Amino acid sequence: MSQEFDVLVIGGGPGGYIAAIRAAQLGFKVACAESNSFDDPKGEPRLGGTCLNVGCIPSKALLASSEEYENIAHHVSDHGIAVKDFSIDIAKMVKRKNDIVTKMTSGIQFLFRKNKITFLKGHAAFICKEGGLFKASISGKEPTEVTAKNVIIATGSKARHLPGVAVDNKLICDNEGALNFSQTPKKLGVIGAGVIGLELGSVWRRLGSEVTILEAMPSFLGACDEGVATEAKKLLTKQGLSFNLGVKIGEVKAGKNNVTISYQDAAGADQSLTVDRLIVSVGRTPNTDGLNLEAVGLKTDERGFIPIDDHTCATSVAGIYAVGDVVRGPMLAHKAEDEGVLVAEVIAGQKPHIDYNCIPWVIYTYPEIAWVGKTEQQLKAEGRAYKPGQFPFAANGRALGMGSSDGFVKVLADAVTDEILGVHIISAGASDLIAEAAVAMEFKAAAEDIARVCHPHPSLSEVVREAALATDKRALNM
Ligand code: FAD
Ligand code: NAI
Repeated sequence: MSQEFDVLVIGGGPGGYIAAIRAAQLGFKVACAESNSFDDPKGEPRLGGTCLNVGCIPSKALLASSEEYENIAHHVSDHGIAVKDFSIDIAKMVKRKNDIVTKMTSGIQFLFRKNKITFLKGHAAFICKEGGLFKASISGKEPTEVTAKNVIIATGSKARHLPGVAVDNKLICDNEGALNFSQTPKKLGVIGAGVIGLELGSVWRRLGSEVTILEAMPSFLGACDEGVATEAKKLLTKQGLSFNLGVKIGEVKAGKNNVTISYQDAAGADQSLTVDRLIVSVGRTPNTDGLNLEAVGLKTDERGFIPIDDHTCATSVAGIYAVGDVVRGPMLAHKAEDEGVLVAEVIAGQKPHIDYNCIPWVIYTYPEIAWVGKTEQQLKAEGRAYKPGQFPFAANGRALGMGSSDGFVKVLADAVTDEILGVHIISAGASDLIAEAAVAMEFKAAAEDIARVCHPHPSLSEVVREAALATDKRALNM
């Protein structure tokens, strides 16, 4: 006998599990299907999706461990601290990361029980629409069928692989293998100088790998404000990451213990690189495998995304919605979560709204890179008159005390109205500092608004205020 729900959520990642919780809060009878066990020791499907299992959380755990190591190796001596013998136990570091993941994913199971959400452990696929209800099969250890008035597709994304490059997650890895190395590779190659390449490249560089990053685009971090991208490349190169931009990858050949990548460099010359491990991080593709979308009359677009209405995340089939990485927009956990909340509220008849211009981005390198709103190059292309204000962390007492004086804040404000159009930060703690800018932009604040708010002293946030003042050429400490 099939169970009937008000809302069936397909996918237990940040888009799906948050949609399920919000829908349950709104009084709906909710089920959430998740098929991936993500190496669970018992082979049981785990909630949390890419983000908690093989994405945001594990990568940040390894970044934190490797930052501790780097501080001991290179920075604590500046404070007069001498550490004679130290080493890193990679297995212990990876176990710590796995324990954090387990804690977080079981936390979601607890939230599901608390909110009386049915966790369907298995792969969901549409069967048909019958009598106003969508029917879906759940093919797990205990196969079942369910019906629902509304369905939220939150099936996320998977790593894009390059044709002819077989990822075995031992020698040639995508994000999943790269989070589980058993030892520090002496030489590490990375294809793709995007977010994953920079974050995971940084982890293993800090732990001693010689890291070479091969990037197809001639420019570095194209989505970033150019000033920030230039500063980031300079600082990351100084730390020891080696970048080859504008390359064309040729044959990638796995040996017994190493991988050789043949490529053409930016000048067109043939090159080859032999490394102990290779990470392939060239973007992600939406996940709609085996959903049987045709059964309910849904189609993906030419890039595999599920087309939706920009305001409500409704698909072309009434009653079916889609959120997160499987739809257009940035592939970010907080964007997926916000869409999950939005859809639950739309189903409840509310009128929620997401301002996609106010979604912050963070790259968790050292220094962190964070931004919200428009870049200078976007404003120039739009022909919009703006006033930039920039302030360096080198002039901030707290940053100096912390030994983290690299980077700056740049505020871009409308030349006439003073409305904040974009904020770009490269610094320690930029992931937290950017939240102030996102709030300000969401409230359509002017640079003057931030400039007039009392900020704690000494704190890194004073640099945000000084950059806001600098848009009016009245920074105080410079
Ligand atoms: P997902 O998290 O991918 O979840 C979808 C879930 O649906 C999966 O668990 C999948 O198994 C399941 N599923 C798919 N099909 C079915 C089906 N038919 N039946 C049942 N279940 C199904 N974003 C950030 O904002 N900050 C970060 O720091 C960050 N770091 C990242 C680091 C890495 C290494 C990676 C790879 C990604 C990172 N991201 C980060 C991106 C972030 O993980 C994604 O944007 C986010 O997980 C998307 O959420 P989602 O719910 O749309 O999809
Ligand atoms: P990405 O889109 O960030 O970067 C991919 C890079 O690979 C690009 O620079 C691209 O030009 C390059 N590339 C593509 N094809 C290539 C080829 N054939 N040869 C060489 N280079 C090539 O993708 P990435 O790093 O895989 O991450 C996927 C997504 O996951 C990100 O876009 C982001 O949405 C999410 N993510 C977010 C994080 C965060 O918020 N901190 C951290 C990690 C991932």
